[in-house]
Amino acid sequence: MTKLRAAITAVQGYAPDFVLTNQLLEKMVDTTDEWIMTRTGIMERRILKGEGLATSDMAVEAVKGVLEKSRTRPDEVELLICATVTPDMVYPATANIISDKAGIKNAFSFDLNAACSGFIYALITGSQYIESGKFKKVLVVGADKMSSIVDYTDRQTCVLFGDGCGAVMLEPDTEGYGIMDSILQSDGSGRIHLHQKAGGSLKPASHQTVDNKEHYVYQEGQAVFKFAVTRMADTAHEVMVRNGMGPDDVAWLVPHQANLRIIDATGKRMGLPPEKVMVNIHRYGNTTNGTIPLCLWEWEPRLNKGDNLILAAFGGGFTWGAIYVKWAY
Ligand code: UT7
Repeated sequence: MTKLRAAITAVQGYAPDFVLTNQLLEKMVDTTDEWIMTRTGIMERRILKGEGLATSDMAVEAVKGVLEKSRTRPDEVELLICATVTPDMVYPATANIISDKAGIKNAFSFDLNAACSGFIYALITGSQYIESGKFKKVLVVGADKMSSIVDYTDRQTCVLFGDGCGAVMLEPDTEGYGIMDSILQSDGSGRIHLHQKAGGSLKPASHQTVDNKEHYVYQEGQAVFKFAVTRMADTAHEVMVRNGMGPDDVAWLVPHQANLRIIDATGKRMGLPPEKVMVNIHRYGNTTNGTIPLCLWEWEPRLNKGDNLILAAFGGGFTWGAIYVKWAY
């Protein structure tokens, strides 16, 4: 018997049906499929359509899938953490709403905001409850309806984002599998480059904030790119090296999907061939908290027990980090 660790025992993703292609975007703003593909690697993204549908409605689909796969009854779940930047409402937490919609009645639940790094932050937070020995069933959700905060007249941002989510179940493991190591970091001075200007206590919603389009994603792309490309690559590399692994020991890099060029740079820094890097940005764009669990879900059939995975993300804050996971099934 080895150390008590938190192992991922099930994963489920969800992406809405409506497909917003680059060709459709060409009709909405002054852009081209060629520009989007060469600068970002994105071909299409999913959009949640329909009156009254929110982040929780996508998340609950992923949660139901995870409950089924892990043969867990809703009343057995003890904690649900939702990483999101597009909560259904400012309060209560979307995690509370997801729990209600999924029939999870014996758990406490809360949201966690670390922008695009939220899912890896939430995974480490959830793992601490398992490692404490007090919790046996922890759900971690990453979900965003980015279309609710994207300005579809701004070509600099509207081509980047999509809606989607995923969820994982964390359970105790004493056989050497699960979350092995992590590095998480933040630097709030980066907030000037990526934020939403209004709707918080600094600048509550008003006619003026709406007229000025201040409730949308604001991003200085080049500045964010510069930080993202070095921080994500360096941290992923550091987690690999400090655990005595080389490129041959890593089965998969699971990177946040913000830009194919950032993903490629991270894979290269780690010395990994492209075949070992999970990429689905061309189909979903940047779903913020949804990217990493969507990758795990799509690659789940190809994962083997004992595979070494490095999860890596970078996002607003700035926040960034990497996690070493030994796949448990
Ligand atoms: O997930 C959270 C973290 N976020 C990220 O990691 C995003 C990091 N940043 C990026 O991925 C890239 O900076 C972008 C994809 C956002 C932009 O790519 P870029 O290569 O940095 O382009 P740029 O912003 O420097 O823009 C180059 C040119 C500009 O025109 P001028 O000034 O050279 O004439 C833009 O106005 O491309 C123009 N442009 C566009 N043209 C066609 C910007 N957006 C578009 C567009 N279509 N959609």
